[in-house]
Amino acid sequence: MKLGLVLLVSGYALWAVEGYGVYQKNCMHCHVEIMEKSLVLKNLKNLKAPPMIEVSNRLKENIVIKEEDQDVKRRVVIAFIKDYIENPSVQYSMCHPMAIERFGIMPSLKGKLSDEERQAVAEWIYDRYEGVKF
Ligand code: HEC
Repeated sequence: MKLGLVLLVSGYALWAVEGYGVYQKNCMHCHVEIMEKSLVLKNLKNLKAPPMIEVSNRLKENIVIKEEDQDVKRRVVIAFIKDYIENPSVQYSMCHPMAIERFGIMPSLKGKLSDEERQAVAEWIYDRYEGVKF
């Protein structure tokens, strides 16, 4: 997991934008971080959106890159997430149709996050669940 750059300036540690913090502030009240599939089904009526692990895994499944270049794939998934934060839409969503029916389309967060914050949270969504099987 990337924690961002740590800059040491005359004894002070300055954290660059940290993806998990951006998630906690802007996404967590709708997307829970992690939940087992069986629990998702049981708790459907208490959820406002697919858990972030589902979002991450689904994008990784759907976005297939020639010759499985993981670096290119990571960049494409991150670019999609960054854009989706500002421009969610039915045409664009890769969510399961049943999930869209249940939750509706995500409201746009345009103007709420800086480019840096969108980059950081998108990287976090990609990296957080690498190797996590559910
Ligand atoms: C008000 C609730 C809400 C908030 C806040 C929210 N989302 Fe969503 N999000 C949704 C819902 C509902 C969906 C499922 C429907 C859809 O795809 O639009 C979704 C879907 C997504 C998808 C999946 C798109 C796809 O095609 O599979 C991504 C990526 C995403 N959200 C990222 C984020 C990020 C990053 C944040 C925080 C910066 C965030 N969301 C905040 C409700 C929310």
